[in-house]
Amino acid sequence: MSIKQHQHAHWSSRLGFILAATGSAVGLGNIWKFPYMVGESGGAAFVLVYLLCIALIGLPILVTEWLIGRRGQNNPANAMADLAKAAGRPRAWMLVGISGILGAFLILSFYSVIGGWSLYYTLNSVTGAFSGQDADGIGALFNAMLGNPGLLLAGHSVFMLLVIGIVARGVTKGIESAARLLMPALGVLLVVLVGYGMSTGHFGEAVSYLFNPDWSKLSGETVLAALGHAFFTLSLGMGIMMAYGSYLGEEVNLLKTARTVVIMDTVIALGAGLAIFPLVFANDLDLASGPGLIFVTLPLAFGQMGGGIVVGLMFFLLLTFAALTSAISLLEPVVEFVEERTPLSRVASTLVSGVGAWALGIAALLSFNLWSDPVLFGLNVFDLLDKLTSKFMLPLTGLGAIVFTSWYLDKESVRRELGMDVYDFSLWSLITRFIAPIGVAVVFFSSL
Ligand code: PHE
Repeated sequence: MSIKQHQHAHWSSRLGFILAATGSAVGLGNIWKFPYMVGESGGAAFVLVYLLCIALIGLPILVTEWLIGRRGQNNPANAMADLAKAAGRPRAWMLVGISGILGAFLILSFYSVIGGWSLYYTLNSVTGAFSGQDADGIGALFNAMLGNPGLLLAGHSVFMLLVIGIVARGVTKGIESAARLLMPALGVLLVVLVGYGMSTGHFGEAVSYLFNPDWSKLSGETVLAALGHAFFTLSLGMGIMMAYGSYLGEEVNLLKTARTVVIMDTVIALGAGLAIFPLVFANDLDLASGPGLIFVTLPLAFGQMGGGIVVGLMFFLLLTFAALTSAISLLEPVVEFVEERTPLSRVASTLVSGVGAWALGIAALLSFNLWSDPVLFGLNVFDLLDKLTSKFMLPLTGLGAIVFTSWYLDKESVRRELGMDVYDFSLWSLITRFIAPIGVAVVFFSSL
């Protein structure tokens, strides 16, 4: 099916794969979005619903995407086409793979812009830009960044260059090596930051905020947000996990590995909360400050507390590492597709895909300044890309993947591949045929 015959890459070990997949899952969503969602939605009640969504919807779709990729040993589009053919289904199922690849490309364009913010804030923390600032000063710093296209472009370009540099080196030498380096570093930074949170004297408040549910704060809207986030945080519906699965060998137990990745992703998201909320409580900051929690609220704390330069630097490094390992996973399915469908080499495929996403990212970053007027449906380019992917493409792609796998693939072979006995598999079937698809469909329709 592919134009060119080539060696399909393989992860060098199960650990390498776990680190790469966890690196994809742990990103801005864990460090930036999860804590502010918890902050806005009233703490532990949200956390509990989120955990349920992860278990019933996130994990099954994660396993499903890996299974598709591994069986295909090919990019998401070809893998879906081949599996559909083998199952005697229309070739159009390939669209599930294509929309995943396209979604990853579109997300990468604006994800890299935020990666650039993270780089800039890492720099700001070293130069002491937060020191002695009041809320207005910190807000002005953020707004000045957004209003400066040249600065945003510089951050976006450097970040994308790093992503391209890593992905061009290939699956094991590039992605896996980066994950082996960055994920342990991220873990250490997080542990130190949580340790610092403990030293503030406000750790207990953060713990009870995260773990004592106040059910009155729960609404239909927060449930939907939790569901949507379960999807986003595991990098589902973007062809990423299919692409990563395509480099897997038969020996890896998908279910066990998925459990490990999901647990690490969740622990890191909760850890980010335990690092951030003590600072928020200790400095009397606004819990529900929304998306500005990390770039506006926290720097205020870094500027005021003792050792703020070091803590701030560690925090933004953590954010940058998390964003980087996610961004490389966004580029991979696109590169895999280009490499397998054209005569281009790995390096050339990476350049074409990465530069394309970079160019689109320029339109996204101009949305904060020169080009802030709506271009379509009352949205600017940045918001358009965000909404189009998170509200439409991701849920539909994820839904397609799980419906295809649970309804059309030969059940007995899936059961054996997942190493389940008949009883476990009937529970699995109930979840993957009904509960998860219905959950995703509900989120999809209610967001329209
Ligand atoms: N899972 C990543 C996170 O939590 C986000 C992400 C989305 C990564 C899409 C890759 C692709 O931030």
